[in-house]
Amino acid sequence: MGIRSKPVKIIHDCDPGHDDAVAILMAAVHPAIDLQAVTVVAGNQTLEKTVRNALNICSASGRFSDIPVAAGMSRPMVREQVVAGDIHGESGLDGPVFDEPDVGLDPRHAVDLIIDLLLDSDDPITIVPTGPLTNIGMAIRKEPDIVEKIERIVLMGGAYQHGNVTPSAEFNIYADPEAAHVVFTCGRPIVMMGLDVTRKALATPAMIARVRSLGNPQAILFAEMMEFFAKSQKEVFGWESPPLHDPTCMAWLIDPECFTTRLMRVEVELRGALTYGRTSCDVFGLEQQAGPGRELYEGGGPLARPSGPNAHVAVDVDFDRFWSVVYDSFAFYG
Ligand code: RIB
Ligand code: CA
Repeated sequence: MGIRSKPVKIIHDCDPGHDDAVAILMAAVHPAIDLQAVTVVAGNQTLEKTVRNALNICSASGRFSDIPVAAGMSRPMVREQVVAGDIHGESGLDGPVFDEPDVGLDPRHAVDLIIDLLLDSDDPITIVPTGPLTNIGMAIRKEPDIVEKIERIVLMGGAYQHGNVTPSAEFNIYADPEAAHVVFTCGRPIVMMGLDVTRKALATPAMIARVRSLGNPQAILFAEMMEFFAKSQKEVFGWESPPLHDPTCMAWLIDPECFTTRLMRVEVELRGALTYGRTSCDVFGLEQQAGPGRELYEGGGPLARPSGPNAHVAVDVDFDRFWSVVYDSFAFYG
């Protein structure tokens, strides 16, 4: 298939965040993406900080004269709030210094903007969450009629291997597991970019230098953000190069063949003392196999479960092809 020929309409819900910021800059300029809105959620930092960061990035993009940006949920649906200041800094986007933003907020709450855009659209829209799923979960619960207008959900979150905020859980899911449960059981196609693949999409010094060499302001901003992101990821995880989590969603939308995915059943753990917020990924289809001891929990008890495979989970990435998509995106800034 290669680069998508017909632009895909998306709503990008995010918690900037260095990697969210790169994803916004890619989505705002690449011709394969028709960005309908940026909606912001608390996650990497408090909502006040993620909103300020989003407005700064959207302003730096210079492409937001008629794309709405709205502030959303400031807290998770049920659990206490968690943030990731150790990774993204006190501001949530430490490193670069921004001018005063020239992009303002849409007066609507992000949940209402998502609902309005989906209900008013003639054709389905792809939802691209790169932060906790609170806004999306709340929108689905507030207005269930939006579900049929969702083309698919291409999200960064989860893992079938190791977590990054607990041994079991990835941050976006852990920050609001109940919202993630609503999303993973909504019945619409899901593409899950989990840590298993994003930890292969590393922002190496060579790739950072390659994008920086474009020399436009957005490419320079990318390099400045990666400089801080690389330092914090090294301090916390010991990574030589930071995983570029959120841009994998935009790269999948632009050129899906960058990735290898496998269809499987993914459920969110809501009860486990050690596994709360884990994406339980049925990699081997074990729950699809009938037989003694494999009786499936069926029926709509307190926690409805997906009836079968519900997500295309990314298991591998073509590193060179991914970085060509990132580089080409920033090249569109001229
Ligand atoms: O676990 C990585 C995810 O959590 C990324 O989306 C990052 O921005 C944070 O939101
Ligand atoms: Ca994020």
